[in-house]
Amino acid sequence: MALRIGDTVPDFTAETTEGPISFHEWIGDSWAVLFSHPKDFTPVCTTELGEASRLKPEFDRRGVKIVGLSVDPADSHRRWAADIEETQGQALNFPVIADSDRKVSDMYDMIHPNASDTFTVRSVFIIGPDKKVKATLTYPASAGRNFDEILRLVDSLQLTSQYSVATPVNWKPGEDCIIVPAVTDEQAKEKFPGGWKALKPYLRIVPQPGK
Ligand code: BEZ
Repeated sequence: MALRIGDTVPDFTAETTEGPISFHEWIGDSWAVLFSHPKDFTPVCTTELGEASRLKPEFDRRGVKIVGLSVDPADSHRRWAADIEETQGQALNFPVIADSDRKVSDMYDMIHPNASDTFTVRSVFIIGPDKKVKATLTYPASAGRNFDEILRLVDSLQLTSQYSVATPVNWKPGEDCIIVPAVTDEQAKEKFPGGWKALKPYLRIVPQPGK
């Protein structure tokens, strides 16, 4: 059964490159991004893990823990980490789950048999401190993910969780936002004392709150 936005993510214990973790406890009060890799020693994944490690300070700044997953044992992940550092010029600096029995991949529906019986697809789960799914992305094995987009999505989700705003098409941090439809104009006057621009009664633009 696929995990959907709003579902509580399954808890599990697993071995990782940084020792065993109990997932919900590991998340704690942080946000988390869990992302799967089809297999160790594969080219696209090697580039992704280098880039995710390079961006780790950006995830840290947002209070987000990142964790990868691949269906190989931890000693294989550690040997692969040496290649990642050598080829990407960046050491792996976050845990990668060793899911050789595919326990977690199955729980999170990361293996799509019509794509491959053995490899995971490239799943991304953005998880809130309440352990609920806030967003998911699914890419095929052949397409590397855009980690700048994952950060942008985290920024949008965190804004929405803090303020009653949504983010428009192609939004980037610092740009104008949209007052969510559930907020009446009366309520908006209190929440957004600086006012807003109403292009339509349902399309109310405000500067990004908290900027
Ligand atoms: C890769 O990570 O490069 C990859 C993995 C499986 C299939 C295709 C590409």
